[in-house]
Amino acid sequence: SKGGYDHFMLKEIHEQPNGVKETLLRRLNDDGEIQLDDIKMTKEDLEKINRVYIVACGTAYHAGIVGKFAIEKFAKIPVITDIASEFRYSNPFIDENTLLILVSQSGETADTLAALRDAKSKGARILSVTNVVGSSIARESDDVFYTWAGPEISVASTKAYTTQLVSFYMIALDFAIKKGTITREYYNEMIEKLKEMPEKVEKALEQEDYINNVVAKELREASSAFYLGRGLDYNLAMEGALKIKEISYIHAEAFAAGELKHGTIALIEKGTPVIAIATQEELFEKMVSNMAEVRARGAYVIAIAQEKNKEVEKSADKVIYIPNVEDILSSILTVLPLQLLSYYVAVQRGCDVDKPRNLAKSVTVE
Ligand code: M6R
Repeated sequence: SKGGYDHFMLKEIHEQPNGVKETLLRRLNDDGEIQLDDIKMTKEDLEKINRVYIVACGTAYHAGIVGKFAIEKFAKIPVITDIASEFRYSNPFIDENTLLILVSQSGETADTLAALRDAKSKGARILSVTNVVGSSIARESDDVFYTWAGPEISVASTKAYTTQLVSFYMIALDFAIKKGTITREYYNEMIEKLKEMPEKVEKALEQEDYINNVVAKELREASSAFYLGRGLDYNLAMEGALKIKEISYIHAEAFAAGELKHGTIALIEKGTPVIAIATQEELFEKMVSNMAEVRARGAYVIAIAQEKNKEVEKSADKVIYIPNVEDILSSILTVLPLQLLSYYVAVQRGCDVDKPRNLAKSVTVE
């Protein structure tokens, strides 16, 4: 049942504080250390790995890109991300020293499963991050990390994504401490920061009324919208654009903000809605100048930024704030206003949110 909400999507958006908490707490032992019961990789196994691929589709693929950032930052192993339907035909370098990480809410996505089988036959070790116990992808993997999102009914994936991010942070920290690429002190500090996330997720969701009543109406009449970001936020721009296309049928595109001058800026005219994601402390100034650039050409800028960065208001028409957070962990929070914005724009446009046209929850054909 929808538990009092109008749609499964909204119910699932609100289940995220709990999903994040469950995924995290079930993997912390009494000493506050990460314990990955279904991942049997030892220090020796990890030392053998010289290449990691993360492969998935759609929203799960976007979670995989955050996974790449986390594994490279903490565990210092190079990671290549790819879309499952492209991966198999791209001559990937796979041998016994390869780790393939698959991400799939359903555990049944045909292209992701085919990528798994292909890599397995070439000797790769297979680790999957999935929400469904006993799914095909879980059964055929060497190691599994289960997200504790609970069943996801809405076609648009929300709580699966945030729990996939928690999974990646934990996998990356576990690999890192085993490999010795981070100190025990830093490891403990990051775990403490992760423990603060459920509360921050709750707090970020408090922007709901503002998004519904103030921000969504700036987008609902639009025929197209652009999402901009840098670093991790570019990836979040892709996720935000996917979500709005999928349920509200507005044409949306994501761009790396630094690419603007290389062609994209030609698309900006008076009134073009631009969702500018500026949550990365390190890239904040650069994003603000990109916002000023598009605004000077008439764009209507809706920014997403950390609470502490109030100066963003000078360069935006509307700002949605998320709680202050470490750059690497920001995506768990940044995605929330993007989900809510897509949801309310779709509702205001009269779209069938839980059953968007032409789509199925689980894509079991290639
Ligand atoms: O079940 P999976 O995670 O393997 O599904 C992957 C994609 O089909 C899925 O994330 C899709 O992109 C969502 N509908 C996006 O909201």
